[in-house]
Amino acid sequence: MEYKIIVVGIGPGSPEYILPIASRSIAQAKVLVGSQRALNEFAPSNIVTKAIDKDINGVLTFIGEALHHNDVVVMVSGDPGFYSLLSALRGKFSQSQIRVIPGISSVQLAFARLSEVWQDAQLISMHGRQASDENLQYQPRKKLGILTDHEHNPSYIAQQLLDHGWPMDSEVWLGEGLSYEQENIKKFTLGETRQVLGFTHCVMVVMA
Ligand SMILES: C[S@@+](CC[C@H](N)C(=O)[O-])C[C@H]1O[C@@H](n2cnc3c(N)ncnc32)[C@H](O)[C@@H]1O
Repeated sequence: MEYKIIVVGIGPGSPEYILPIASRSIAQAKVLVGSQRALNEFAPSNIVTKAIDKDINGVLTFIGEALHHNDVVVMVSGDPGFYSLLSALRGKFSQSQIRVIPGISSVQLAFARLSEVWQDAQLISMHGRQASDENLQYQPRKKLGILTDHEHNPSYIAQQLLDHGWPMDSEVWLGEGLSYEQENIKKFTLGETRQVLGFTHCVMVVMA
């Protein structure tokens, strides 16, 4: 029997936003991989767990070895298809070894909170990476959904967008802790966003 890697999207954070099939896969796991936070929240007791840390090769090696004896369930935040460990897994394992259970992306939830469609938005991650000039370039009616991090925070990104021709009065929405009780969503202009502190790991929606 060939064991599988089941990559499960756990949504933006609150258990209310996890699909039933995802919860079931996690509950039935014998080997479970995920962030320490996700393991603390969702791991059943008495199973083998592995926290995802900076040593991604170590995590992939662990998964490869565990796969000889069991299915391995890998929890990732949001949707696996949008900036998750799935890219690294597809680099090491074949398509037939991997099954993906989708989740609700933080970007999806951010646009839902604003009652805005995202079919016409350009979705970018600046979590641990830079965006291309083409992505950042201003165009009339352009709409962006951006994942941020500590370094590439909204203040930094606002300056980048202004440098790429975006008007000062472009509308910006910042959403952090989405789906959690402490969810915080605020509206600014792009000019104001240069002075914003915090919102380090958030979804930044920008509309020209
Ligand atoms: C590695 S990316 C993972 C994206 C994930 N696969 C998704 O579909 O949402 C992590 C980034 O997602 C965003 N993020 C994830 N969960 C969030 C939440 N509950 N509220 C706001 N932003 C969130 C933040 O920008 C964070 O830095």
